[in-house]
Amino acid sequence: MNLSGCTALVTGGGTGIGLALAEALMAEGSQVLICGRREEPLAEAAARLPGLEYQVCDVSVAEDRDALHEWVRRAHPGLDVLINNAGIQRDVNLRRGLEDLEAGENEILINLEAAVYLTARFLPMLLKRDEAAVVNVTSGLAFVPLAAAPVYCATKAGLHSYTQSLRHQLQGTPVKVFELIPPAVDTGLDRGARERRGESHRGIPAVEVAKAALAGIKKDHFEIPVGRAVTLMQGLRSDPEGAFKAMNPD
Ligand SMILES: NC(=O)c1ccc[n+]([C@@H]2O[C@H](COP(=O)([O-])OP(=O)(O)OC[C@H]3O[C@@H](n4cnc5c(N)ncnc54)[C@H](OP(=O)(O)O)[C@@H]3O)[C@@H](O)[C@H]2O)c1
Repeated sequence: MNLSGCTALVTGGGTGIGLALAEALMAEGSQVLICGRREEPLAEAAARLPGLEYQVCDVSVAEDRDALHEWVRRAHPGLDVLINNAGIQRDVNLRRGLEDLEAGENEILINLEAAVYLTARFLPMLLKRDEAAVVNVTSGLAFVPLAAAPVYCATKAGLHSYTQSLRHQLQGTPVKVFELIPPAVDTGLDRGARERRGESHRGIPAVEVAKAALAGIKKDHFEIPVGRAVTLMQGLRSDPEGAFKAMNPD
């Protein structure tokens, strides 16, 4: 897919992988729109990257999704690329029942439901283009779960499955469907939990993920696993039990 001169919306584009994707797309000459819940990182990014536009939006709230769609429809009706990148990750102790589950934000609404509904909302606009794309950001953990983050992994596995079906249903239309599958990346995602687990390696830089993403999209590689995510995908296919044990030692 040709990315130069396209218009792209990156959810969660104010920080981390989303911001790296936004910068990489702008370097290709694309118009980039980002959204997130906190205005500060969005405004900081827009101040640093002239031309970048943003909207405050909680993608897990239907009214916010509607407002985001209305903003794009009015200001940028030629949207070509939707990148469902916004996400959160939490450690959840399932033995604590509802207590732990309800103690933080809802990963199912943010990581899975929002991507499904935003895609449905923007698809009519994308289908009008000569060439367009939906890019869903999953994770290597979609393929081999990390038991400490059970809901996160389930949402990413769900998003992987949904992405496959979406790609199949959109065959023969102008809309290409990509899945970006990052490994551990050095961002603010789940930093507290990683520290609690004593993980010293913070992962690869977000710019490496963005570079791999754009290279894959340009070559129409519809599944784009990056770094260790390649091993996790292969592990699921060749030795699922061994891969699970390696990820979750006793
Ligand atoms: N870092 C990793 O190791 C890793 C590995 C595999 C996959 N991923 C995936 O990559 C994506 C980006 O994560 P990241 O690592 O770049 O972490 P990040 O820096 O924390 O980025 C997540 C972004 O999503 C936004 N966001 C979260 N909830 C939102 C909501 N309800 N509505 C709108 N925006 C929301 C956040 O902004 P606000 O808080 O201001 O809303 C933030 O800008 C996620 O889907 C994540 O699951 C990350």
